[in-house]
Amino acid sequence: VTVKSTNITAVGHAVTRDARAARNGHKGGVLWFTGLSGAGKSTLALALERELFAKGYQVYVLDGDNIRSGLNANLGFSPEDRAENIRRVGEVAALFADAGFLVISSFISPYRADRERAREAAKDAFHEIYVKASLEACESRDPKGLYRRARTGEIPEFTGITSPYEPPESPELVVPTDELPVEDCLALLLKYVEGKFQT
Ligand code: PPS
Repeated sequence: VTVKSTNITAVGHAVTRDARAARNGHKGGVLWFTGLSGAGKSTLALALERELFAKGYQVYVLDGDNIRSGLNANLGFSPEDRAENIRRVGEVAALFADAGFLVISSFISPYRADRERAREAAKDAFHEIYVKASLEACESRDPKGLYRRARTGEIPEFTGITSPYEPPESPELVVPTDELPVEDCLALLLKYVEGKFQT
């Protein structure tokens, strides 16, 4: 995006990232979940948040359905609106990470270019987690009945049906929810976090 404001000068923080990490016992960062609707992003994000919070982490979930009713209430599901959705969330996630939080962002984020932009916002604190399940598996789960409605044409531009999903090419972690039970997926995530974020 083009920055429209002129005459702006960034301020430097008086509290450093290292100082925040030392107090929290872990670094800040972004666990960027991406995957189809029904792949298990929200389920895993919320379970991981609960586990990490119990272990003393500063952790917070940003989730599509929630953010779309507030910050991003003016956006729909066209490619342009999805790009703007992910741009804003990417910036918010980067701010949380800078504030010392472990952010779990749970959005379909179907376009590679948009995810790469989110990575650039958070720089080396960004970890792409592919919550992987086949379209067949997601459609047979259909927890919200959205695939059924997308098939009848009632929901236009539905990811995987009438709108594309571009899988990650080199994610930091793959969580195959159609091959492993939830507890094993959660264990993979916990192991990853404990290996990467503890100070
Ligand atoms: S995106 O693509 O990243 O901007 O989408 P996101 O913000 O994650 O929102 C996805 C949730 O919105 C509901 N929903 C749709 N998803 C995909 N395509 C269409 N057309 C659509 N319409 C509504 C749906 O509940 C998604 O939630 P999840 O949890 O992924 O199922």
